[in-house]
Formats: sequence, structure tokens, C-alpha cells
Amino acid sequence: MKILITGGTGFIGSALRRYLSSTPNDLVLLTRGAPGMELTGSLTVKYVRWNPLERGTWEKEVEGCDAVINLIGKNVFEQRWNPQVKQQVLDSRVVPTRLLVEAIGRAERKPSVLISASAVGYYGHRDDGIITESAQPGNDFLADLAVQWEGEAFKAEQFGVRVAVPRIGLVLERSGGMIGKMLLPFRLFAGGPIGSGRQYLPWIHMEDVVRGILFPLEQEGLKGVYNLTAPEPVTMKEFAKQFGSVLHRPSWLPVPDIALDVLYGEGAKVIVSGQRAVPERLLAAGYRFSYPALRPALEHLLQ
Ligand SMILES: NC(=O)c1ccc[n+]([C@@H]2O[C@H](COP(=O)([O-])OP(=O)(O)OC[C@H]3O[C@@H](n4cnc5c(N)ncnc54)[C@H](OP(=O)(O)O)[C@@H]3O)[C@@H](O)[C@H]2O)c1
Repeated sequence: MKILITGGTGFIGSALRRYLSSTPNDLVLLTRGAPGMELTGSLTVKYVRWNPLERGTWEKEVEGCDAVINLIGKNVFEQRWNPQVKQQVLDSRVVPTRLLVEAIGRAERKPSVLISASAVGYYGHRDDGIITESAQPGNDFLADLAVQWEGEAFKAEQFGVRVAVPRIGLVLERSGGMIGKMLLPFRLFAGGPIGSGRQYLPWIHMEDVVRGILFPLEQEGLKGVYNLTAPEPVTMKEFAKQFGSVLHRPSWLPVPDIALDVLYGEGAKVIVSGQRAVPERLLAAGYRFSYPALRPALEHLLQ
């Protein structure tokens, strides 16, 4: 299978490439970095340079691909938010998705499926009610962003392309992401819940993120949005407790909202708010989680 991917050099994209390395597929990876070819196991990766905000010769790479996986986006937490950063966060998702879909529209041999990332931030801050895919969007910046981002992806349906949009939760991986941020304070016996501790974390193990993103390739009936989160979300307090227990460290020192506000400004709201999102559509489509429960997921990643 020939798969075109954006964001393939990133946190999730790199795990996806590792996962695919034992398969005889061809990846065409659009990147702002250097072009080139790579053979990883039995996977061929062709790196094609693009400017994700402009049309260009990269468009011809869409021709003849079986599938497109769209994982691009400026990291939401790498910088304190200001109007300019927020615009970059938005543009780095919405504009490339629009250009990609337009390129699909112009291709003579179109992919049969577009898998385009979104995030549980779509739902905004929620209390402790269970959130399925039919819930309405929130009314903050990330929710507005997700609505626009998903809207651009679904425009590919007018070209007869099946569109699947995983609303990805909080990704747990050995290094990086949330675990990367929590590990040091816990190792120094200074770990604890972030914010009130009552907010629900829609966590998911990286292995399930990768398998869940690829699931629409094998499950041809799966289209539309689906929550890519573990079936058992837990509160931040419970998460910190289990995290400490697996590391044999205490977990009682909370990180107060005010400290986060100083560090991240408006972006802190995302960390201290939560969604009790559950993967109703994925389970209904027959997906079996590698890590449905938190404790084995943390043991696998931390020990
Ligand atoms: N990680 C999570 O917990 C999580 C949760 C929910 C949703 N998601 C979504 O899933 C997708 C992949 O997440 P990720 O964590 O793997 O992302 P990431 O590592 O932060 O970034 C993915 C890729 O996007 C490109 N990129 C970065 N900054 C950019 C910018 N300013 N303009 C244009 N392109 C830029 C880079 O590719 P090149 O350098 O090769 O161009 C990068 O490798 C993103 O859309 C993200 O919003 C992630």
C-alpha cells in the first residue's frame, strides 16, 4: 500500500513509522525538513519537502496513493499562548488540511481514504459526564480550532474519498508528552495531580494511538469522527496516584492552577480542564485495545 503522510516526523508520526517498519508499505512523508529516501525494515519512506502553507510540486505525490494520513500541527504546548502563537497553532492544521484536500480533488487517481487527526479538545472543558462522539463542541479556542480542522478534512468526501477523523486523547508514551513532563517531579519525590485533580484525563497508550489511526485502513466501514481514547478514562487525581504507585513514589504534592498559569498562560486551561471521553464508535467497529486499563499501560511505559 502507498500511504502519504503529513506530520510523520512528529511524536505520533515517528511511532507510526516504527510500527509500520515491519510491513511492506511505501510511505511518502511530506516534511519541512530535508528530502531523501530511507528503508526501515521492510518499509520504504520517501521524504518530500513542502511548505505546508502553500501549493507546490508536492501535490503530485498525492496521485496514486491508496491512503492519506494527516498528522500535521504546531505543538500546542511548546510556547506560552499569545494571539500570534494561537494563529500559528490554527494555521498549521487548517491550511495544510485544506491544501491536502484540494490536491486530492485534483488527483486523477485519488486515495480511497483520508485519515485526518483531530483532538478531544473539540469537546472543550467538561465536567464528569461521559462524552461520546455525538457530544456538541465546546466554546474555547481549541474547540473552535478542531471544528475548522475537521471541517476542512470532511470536504474530501465531495471527491468520493472516505474520511475518518480520530479525536485523539492525551497520548502516553515512554518519553515525551505528558509522561515526559511528569516523570522528573515524581522521581524527585515532588509529584502530584495537576490542577484540581477532579478533571478527567482522556488518556491513551501510544500503541493504541498508532493502531487506532491505522484501523480505518483495515475496517472499510469506519468513517466519520471517532474518539481515540482508552475506554477507561480516570480523574487526574487517580492518574497521579497510579503514576506514583508504579514508580514507587508519593503522589500527594499537587501542582496548583496558579503555577500552571504562570508557565503556560491561557494554554494552562487545557491541562486543568478535562473530558471523560470514551471510544464508543471504535469499540462498536470492533477495535480491541492493547491497553484498555491505565495500570498495565503505565507499567509498560514506566518500568
Ligand atoms: N500528542 C498528543 O497528545 C495529541 C493529542 C491530540 C491530538 N494530537 C494531534 O495529532 C497530530 C500529531 O501529534 P504529534 O504530537 O505527533 O505532533 P508534533 O510531534 O508536535 O508535530 C507533528 C509534525 O507537525 C509538523 N509541524 C510542527 N510544527 C509545525 C508548524 N509550525 N507548521 C507546520 N508544521 C509543523 C512537524 O513536521 P515536519 O517538521 O516534518 O514538517 C511535526 O513533526 C497533531 O495534529 C496533534 O494536534 C496530538
